[in-house]
Order: sequence, then structure tokens, then C-alpha cells
Amino acid sequence: MEYQTTTRDAARVAADCLVVGVYDRGTLGAAAASVNDASGGWLEAQIRSGDVLTREGKVALLASPKGVKAKRLLVVGLGKKSGLNAFRFRRAAAKAFEALRETRSRSVVMGLTLEAVEDSTAYYLGRFTSELLAAALYVFDQMKSKRAPKLAPITRLTLLAASRNDANQSKSGAVHGGAVSSGMALAKDLGNLPGNVCTPSYLARVAKEQAKKIAGLETKVLGEPEIKRLGMHCFLSVTSGSAQPARLIVMQYKGAPGEQPVALVGKGITFDTGGTSLKPPPAMDEMKYDMCGAASVIATITVAARLKLPINVVAIVPTCENMLSGTATRPGDIVKTMSGQTVEILNTDAEGRLILCDALTYSRRFKPDTVIDVATLTGACVIALGHHRTGVMTEDDALNDDLLAAGIAAEDRGWPLPLGVEYTEALRSNFADFANIGGREGGASVAGAFLSKFADGLTWAHLDIAGTAWVSGAKKGATGRPVPMLSQYLLERAGALPR
Ligand code: BES
Ligand code: MN
Ligand code: ZN
Repeated sequence: MEYQTTTRDAARVAADCLVVGVYDRGTLGAAAASVNDASGGWLEAQIRSGDVLTREGKVALLASPKGVKAKRLLVVGLGKKSGLNAFRFRRAAAKAFEALRETRSRSVVMGLTLEAVEDSTAYYLGRFTSELLAAALYVFDQMKSKRAPKLAPITRLTLLAASRNDANQSKSGAVHGGAVSSGMALAKDLGNLPGNVCTPSYLARVAKEQAKKIAGLETKVLGEPEIKRLGMHCFLSVTSGSAQPARLIVMQYKGAPGEQPVALVGKGITFDTGGTSLKPPPAMDEMKYDMCGAASVIATITVAARLKLPINVVAIVPTCENMLSGTATRPGDIVKTMSGQTVEILNTDAEGRLILCDALTYSRRFKPDTVIDVATLTGACVIALGHHRTGVMTEDDALNDDLLAAGIAAEDRGWPLPLGVEYTEALRSNFADFANIGGREGGASVAGAFLSKFADGLTWAHLDIAGTAWVSGAKKGATGRPVPMLSQYLLERAGALPR
């Protein structure tokens, strides 16, 4: 996608489609007003005739609009003029792009960026516009025998700006949004692929391909013999029932030589049957999404590398399947982790923490400044927060604030959940140092507390994305979250955001 900005009059910009907004009762937005002037009142006449509905979320596509250089005019209802905020801006833009994708447009001009949006800036309007356009154009049809009908082949997005300064800001927002969107598309593709295609080796191959494609990114893949040599017996206990070999994927991006990196650790269970503690059949297919933590950290490091951020990032992905067979782990088995601590595996379905704990220990060799693990870890987190918010668990107040703020700014929100001794106590074991499960109560925090036993002395946060990484129902699919939150966190750390 090519991104442009212009301070020219909306009616004068040539394109296949121009998007303008109108408020309740036909009050014209800024770009709509220029169109109306240039057309001698034609747009207002259209509204008066009733052909263009102005209620919030309504869209009208007008061909060959009068007095306008663009070939099509897309009018979207913005609702009440007061209180237009980022949330409502995003909803209106999403509606407009949904309509746009049914056209044959190659280039689009976004006029909504001229509106006054509360608590937002030209940078974020540009960012959200490019992200929402990419989201509207995303299709996953790799597994269909016939490709889905083609959407609009859009290759150019032009953002209207009120000033030169706004134009610069919104351009930078759009470019950042473009990189975040490529990351999200990668994360969605990996999440949507079924377990028989997206295996641990497949994930490893994709991580290597990304490193070939993007300068400054390196990928190293460890196989089972090396994983064993490292002493990751806890990780290996999860793959023991599978015919697919496990992998440890390590990606590095160095944009700030000499600085300590941010380590992103992602859960890469390419399918979770529950193992010997087998899951019930309904919706078990959704456990193909159990590698969305892995997908999001692989995607996020590509965002950092694409934008050449002046920071260092390392992505660590333990990946395997959780299957059941004669060689699978039994409930009650005791294994030694890379840290030396022993774990009694009371439930083989609590496997995410078993692969992550060894990856957290491994992350220490990079002397990370901050470690963030990302995992579809617990059903309990979905019950607590639904599909709306990522569970954020950390005992570091500054990191907590940074991640929550990043989620708000990127419109990919989290919510804090607690850690602490009350929760680690639930993991008491009579036979090993601790067990891998506690009771059902507070399950997200108990899982976080298990991981905290491996994060001693690290500045560490755990993100439970079991609810946010995908949606079920008619629009079933991976969401690409929390790539926006993580990318925002890195953009902020890199000082790449406008002050
Ligand atoms: N991958 C699941 C968590 C999950 C459940 C993600 C539902 C998305 C939707 C994880 O491996 C798991 O099975 N967790 C168990 C833990 C329990 C046995 C302590 C769970 O949440 O039921
Ligand atoms: Mn499980
Ligand atoms: Zn799982």
C-alpha cells in the first residue's frame, strides 16, 4: 500500500473513491462541505432527497459525483457531532471501508481525517485509517478450493489533512499502521491455518522466511536434541505424545547495538487436545488458535524490524502439539524444568505454562531489560474478561502502566489481573516443587503465578490472550491481537511516536 497525504481541497483530489462524513440531521463534515461547495449544493440535495441517510453508521455510495475529481463518493454517517471520539471514528471508518471493498476502486481518499476527533491526533487518525483499511481488505481463503471473490484492489490511500504538520503526522501514522497491519495479517493467517498445516515446523519455516524478507531480522530454530541439551524437560513433556517434532524458534532484531533487548515469549501450541486430560469435543477445533501467542510475537518483531525501530527485540517461541498417545505425559508425572525446579503435572491440559516456563528461563541468556510472555493460557481469562480485553499480569507497576496505556492508544486494550503469593500457594504439591494447576478459582492468576516462579528477578509481564486472539460465531477467526498493543509498546519505547 502506498500512503499519501495532502492539504488540498477534498473535491480536487483525483481518486477512485472519496470518503466523506456527515453528522446527524445532515450537518456536513469538513470534506463533505468541500464536495457540496464544489458541486453547487448537489450533496445537500442528495441528503434532502432521502437517498443519502445520515444516521450513524449508514453509508451511501454515489457514482460519478458532481463537481468532484473522484470517481465515487462514499458518504458515511458519523452520528452526533459532539463526542466524536476515536472509538466512533474507527467504527465509521470501518463501515466506510466495508462498503468500499465491494467497489472496483484502486485508490481511496480519506476525508474523515479532517474531522475534530476528541482525544485523538492526526497521527492516530492516520494510523487507524491504514489499519482499518487493511483489516477490511483481509481475506483468508488459502484453504478454499476456489478463491473468494476479489475485493477492491486498493493500492493507494490518501489522507486529507488540514495543515502541513497534520499531513506529516498522519503520514507517519499511516506508515506505522501499515506495518502493524502486515503484522496482524501474518498473525491472523497463522492463527486461521488448521493444525494439520500450521505445525511447529511450519511456524519455524514462516519465522525463517520472515527473516529472509526483512532486513535486520534473524531467525534460529532449535530441534528436539538441542532443546533436550538445554534441559527443557518440562517443554518436552508436552510434545511427548505428538508425532510432530517440537521446535524452539528464536528471532532477533537488533536496532540499537549494545542495548538490552525486550524479550517477547509466545505460546506456540499448534493444537491443544488437552493430552491425556482430554478436552471435551465441542469447539475443540478452536484449539488450533493455541499458537496465537507465538503468532503475535513473531508478527510483532517483524513490525519492529520493518519500521527499523532503534531498539533490540528477541522473540522466543516454544512450539509443539499437545496430543495424546502411548508416549504422552500422564497426570502425576513429574518433570524437571530448565530452571532446575520440578513440576508435578496434575493436568496435561494446563500445558501452556509448561512450555512457557522453560522459554522464560531461556530468555535470561539475552539479559533482557523486559520480558513479556503472550499466551492463550486459560479459559478462566475468557470468563473474566470476555473477548474484549487481554489479561495483563505483572508485579512491575511501570510495565503494567506501559502495557495498559499502549493498549488504550492502539485500541487493543488490556485489563490488569493480580499475581502474588495467594495464587502461588494454590500450586502446592506433595511430591514435586509445585504442581501445574491449582483449583478452578482465579484460574488466570494461578496460571500467571505458576509462570512467576520462573521470572524471579526479571522485569516481566504475562498477557493472557485466550479471549482476545480470536472470535467465534459467524465471523470466526483470528483477530491479530495483541499485535497492536505490543507494537505500540515498542513504538513508545523506541521514541517513534509524536510527542
Ligand atoms: N489453551 C487452553 C486455554 C484456552 C481455553 C484458550 C479456552 C482459549 C479458550 C489451555 O491450554 C488450557 O487448556 N487451560 C486450561 C487450564 C486448566 C486445566 C487449569 C483451562 O483453561 O481450562
Ligand atoms: Mn490446554
Ligand atoms: Zn493450551
